[in-house]
Amino acid sequence: MKDNFKLEMTTVWSFPKRGNWATHSGMYRGNWSPYVPRNLILKFTAEHDWILDQFMGSGTTLIEAKLLNRNIIGIDVNEKAYKITEKNLNFECKTSSHIHIRLCSAENIYFIKNNSIDCICTHPPYANIIKYSKDNRYDISLLSVEKYLLAMKNVAKESYRVLKSNHICAIMVGDIRKKGILIPLGFYVMNIFKQQGFILKDIIIKEQHNCKSTLKWVNIKHSFYLLAHEYIFIFEKK
Ligand SMILES: C[S@@+](CC[C@H](N)C(=O)[O-])C[C@H]1O[C@@H](n2cnc3c(N)ncnc32)[C@H](O)[C@@H]1O
Repeated sequence: MKDNFKLEMTTVWSFPKRGNWATHSGMYRGNWSPYVPRNLILKFTAEHDWILDQFMGSGTTLIEAKLLNRNIIGIDVNEKAYKITEKNLNFECKTSSHIHIRLCSAENIYFIKNNSIDCICTHPPYANIIKYSKDNRYDISLLSVEKYLLAMKNVAKESYRVLKSNHICAIMVGDIRKKGILIPLGFYVMNIFKQQGFILKDIIIKEQHNCKSTLKWVNIKHSFYLLAHEYIFIFEKK
């Protein structure tokens, strides 16, 4: 476990070294640096609180929850993510977290009770910029931007339902570019969460490092700036 860890204090975050303690590896495409959930968990939760990550991927948030003695529900629609998370959670640790992982869609988390979650800490796909499966009909990384935003409305609705009042929902999303045109996906998602009733507390700009889709443009002449940031939206349910 990282011993010289310092909490972020401002709205600009940058982690040039992704972080490779415990079973974190960075191999899962589009995963987030463990510094992100570690910061959010330490700031917004206490030990034994229940966290939800409904787009768990390789389980980065769950590993951090285990290390920090928090309880967590992890959800992903893809079996590959489920298996990788299961494997990544298989390490010795002195904590006593309850960890549940489930293969289902973040659009319908019926098995989680209303007002029962202490903090949501999650990282959905950025529309179809990285496709996580070939033909899983519930995988929102296969959808056009328009359909993705409709799906995110269901995600926001479910997030609002399961979160306790006065508690935090933190979600990281980035913008995308298609045929040279910028699609401000981050702000679209932000507005969807606000429309569901969430109060916006902070927008954190996170610098992106080693982004494969950006690197491919580095030596090509273009008339736009390369995207090198993502947003972490901090919402509160009042
Ligand atoms: C950006 S990745 C999350 C990466 C994760 N933060 C990590 O560090 O490994 C997004 C995840 O959302 C999953 N996903 C796509 N559609 C979903 C849905 N409807 N419900 C739940 N998970 C979904 C994908 O399988 C993918 O693993």
